Amino acid sequence: MVTKVAVVTGANKGIGFAIVRGLCKRFDGVVYLTSRDETRGENAVIQLSKEGLHPKYYQLDITSVKSVEKFRDYIKKEYGGIDILVNNAAIAFNNNTKEPVTVQAEQTLFVNYFSLLSTCEILFPILRNGARVVNISSSCGHLTQIPGVALRNRFKDPNLTIEQLGELMQEYIEAARKGTQVAEWGNSSYVVSKVGVTALTKIQQRMYNDRGK
Ligand SMILES: NC(=O)c1ccc[n+]([C@@H]2O[C@H](COP(=O)([O-])OP(=O)(O)OC[C@H]3O[C@@H](n4cnc5c(N)ncnc54)[C@H](OP(=O)(O)O)[C@@H]3O)[C@@H](O)[C@H]2O)c1
Repeated sequence: MVTKVAVVTGANKGIGFAIVRGLCKRFDGVVYLTSRDETRGENAVIQLSKEGLHPKYYQLDITSVKSVEKFRDYIKKEYGGIDILVNNAAIAFNNNTKEPVTVQAEQTLFVNYFSLLSTCEILFPILRNGARVVNISSSCGHLTQIPGVALRNRFKDPNLTIEQLGELMQEYIEAARKGTQVAEWGNSSYVVSKVGVTALTKIQQRMYNDRGK
């Protein structure tokens, strides 16, 4: 019999940790709690074991292609594929951070958008038939959060491709470097990263629906 596999990224704390807890209670298969930091991840597993829950653990840094590929190869060898993938890992700078907006823009989009995308690209080939993917966006990911009307329309384009979306994300980073981002993009890199995740998720669904047409 095939063992079903659920994977949650960034699951050592917060929402990811709670999703692992929920899956351990409801999912008929193995649940992988993954984290970028091994000690934090293993401590989270110990915490759940005290609740009688037994997720498996794997170190997974979504910003490292090598790390995600290693995980993919391991899962493929041990189980053959993935049935549930929850792309939860993300970062957010504090509202009162002293980091320059350029740093916030580059780092936030690198983790929340570009690394989520590369994780999908690496892991999607081993999704099994009927698999489910959950990209955790946010209410901050609503297009209404973007002030520029022309920009919103580009995100809304029903034919938007992943490549074009990547260009949009790069445009934001460029605008942040020049200090010209606020009027069109607003003042939050986190918002832009989550608008990107929401748009990406729609494209992925469209690509999935179009398969074999
Ligand atoms: N909290 C909210 O109100 C809220 C609302 C809407 C959406 N969300 C979204 O929900 C998700 C979880 O949020 P949260 O509040 O639970 O955040 P959190 O407590 O800060 O947890 C984020 C998790 O992501 C991990 N992470 C960060 N960078 C990573 C990387 N490169 N590779 C792997 N893991 C990485 C963190 O690991 P470390 O512990 O090592 O940093 C942590 O485990 C995020 O996508 C967030 O944007 C949150």
